[in-house]
Amino acid sequence: MQAASATAPGKIILFGEHAVVYGQPAIAVPLTTMQVTVVAEPVSDGEGLVITAPDVNRTVRLSMFDTNDPLYNALGLPVRLVLERFGIPEPPLRLTVRSTIPIASGLGSGAALATALIRAIGLALECPLANDDINTLVFEVEKRHHGTPSGIDNTVIVYEQPVYYVRGQPLETLNVSRPFTVLVADSGQESPTHVAVGDVRRLYASDRATIGAIFARIGNIATVARTAIETGAIESLGPLMNENHTLLSRLTVSSTALDRLCSAARDAGAYGAKLSGGGRGGNIIALVDETSATRVADALHRVGALRVVRTVIG
Ligand code: MEV
Repeated sequence: MQAASATAPGKIILFGEHAVVYGQPAIAVPLTTMQVTVVAEPVSDGEGLVITAPDVNRTVRLSMFDTNDPLYNALGLPVRLVLERFGIPEPPLRLTVRSTIPIASGLGSGAALATALIRAIGLALECPLANDDINTLVFEVEKRHHGTPSGIDNTVIVYEQPVYYVRGQPLETLNVSRPFTVLVADSGQESPTHVAVGDVRRLYASDRATIGAIFARIGNIATVARTAIETGAIESLGPLMNENHTLLSRLTVSSTALDRLCSAARDAGAYGAKLSGGGRGGNIIALVDETSATRVADALHRVGALRVVRTVIG
């Protein structure tokens, strides 16, 4: 056993959330300006495995972690799954978890926590896991988080690459030929993904023809966007983002605050804007260039964005 540390980034979905659950393609990129860090340190025998999360003021021993605890799925489950994978009940380790990814905000905090925990334990046990193995374990965790995940969050976070993702298909990374800038603006409203995913499922069951057509159009947008990203036709992504946002509103996953943020970004000169992730709250993304970035960020703050992060993709 050895001391080790591991990190995992957040993620943003550029195109295709929700429709991706139903087999349509989607595009996601890692968000490296936010991350989870896990430090693993051996402790004396008999102390068992202790998880410390200073951000939420919690220290808990794995063997005492109640599965009904609201933090269990985020912190305890990934640890249990990776220990089961190694066939080790409870090694004497302290895991200190820190995260700058806000929870329930569509930026992949759950998948990033699981990835960093699993990776750090593999390193501490001197059996580093391959990304494919980590991805399988994190997907298991995601299933407990929100029932029917597409797998896009764990994939983009574990491999830390821009991905063109189709559920059940082999990983396809995306070649970003010309870097572009996106602002990520937080509505400040927490919104658990599983609630929005469950509501979209019910909506689909109530009218498969209409909702199925919306999924198909969203998938088509993701395919067109892929070509634009790979050929450097970045400006053409703006209208595609706007249309994707309108379609997500028709799936009932936007909100007044998200619509307000998107409109403010467009009015201030963004090429396009849309919600990103599960929706109902969480974050929007706005495509900007160097000249509009500050103006758009100011406009987003004025209409209530809690935080605006600028990130360059590619
Ligand atoms: C969540 O980041 C993306 C959703 O499409 C759910 C999923 O793909 O599992 C809303």
